[in-house]
Amino acid sequence: MTRKICIAISRQVSEPILERLRSLGDVRMPDSDAPADLAELFKDADYALVTPLDGRIDWAVLAACPRLKLISTISAGYDHIDIEACTERGIHVCNTPGAVVAATADLAFGLMLAAARCIVEADAFVRAGRWGSGSAPIYGMDVHHKRMGIIGMGRIGAELAKRARGFDMEVSYYNRRQLPPEEEARLGVRYLDLDSLLAQSDFVMVQAPYGPDTRHLIGAAQLARMKPTAVLVNAARGGVVDDAALAAALRDKRIAAAGLDVTEGEPSVHPDLLPLSNLVLAPHIGSNTRETHLRMAMEAIENLLGAVQGAPLRNCINKAEEAASVPA
Ligand code: DGY
Repeated sequence: MTRKICIAISRQVSEPILERLRSLGDVRMPDSDAPADLAELFKDADYALVTPLDGRIDWAVLAACPRLKLISTISAGYDHIDIEACTERGIHVCNTPGAVVAATADLAFGLMLAAARCIVEADAFVRAGRWGSGSAPIYGMDVHHKRMGIIGMGRIGAELAKRARGFDMEVSYYNRRQLPPEEEARLGVRYLDLDSLLAQSDFVMVQAPYGPDTRHLIGAAQLARMKPTAVLVNAARGGVVDDAALAAALRDKRIAAAGLDVTEGEPSVHPDLLPLSNLVLAPHIGSNTRETHLRMAMEAIENLLGAVQGAPLRNCINKAEEAASVPA
């Protein structure tokens, strides 16, 4: 009897997703919401479906999973997977770059608005019964007609630029590679070097991926270049911003405010950030809408499905030739 393929999932998933996977083979997933031992969970798996929140997939995990052919991550980011180690072991890694884009841009924009207009502080003010007669002593800053600077002009950056145009904002960007002029014209953005962008922007939006080149891309020196009235938002990855340096800049009012959906070493948060009232925090919920999560899961399953059926791989990160298919 031929062995059925084994698909392991790093966390519990909803019935429609399970049903889809069960039509392909045996499915293994954790019994509870508690963090799973990934090496144990994946040890017989041919294919794995993972998220960035369930632990890092490193050499030790991969060494325990000799059958693994493909890891499909339900995320755009893949810094939770040792890609080099996967490539060396002949394991393909696929992500979901499309599904997360609009929801993450919405959240980044929301953090910007919340930080600029003191929405969290205002909420606490009302709940504390402090809303007396007259106008509340809570004053934010205008967002419309201001300057947005986007660091990392990928798909989410482009969506941010689109939203900013609706607020009559002027948009600049910094990216490893400058976009072609026709693309800049289409998005209505102009390229600036990082220092100029930091010095000129009212709202600095960090959307660069995390990696050795971008760790602490925004540190004390970069924060010092920003306007004292500026707001920083990081909805990309923790570690792209140096959180200790950010906490000091916010505390000393060297910048006005910040919004963070991600922190370095999350779920832990640098202790100096927590007491700051000019900071809005969120627990990495950029893609957390029901619709987007379902789309991401489906996109990840489609990536996996193609591989199971021997079709050309979609969204493959560690093989330049997207047409590669997984050996049977
Ligand atoms: C992504 O897709 O990378 C989001 O940050 C969710 O982890």
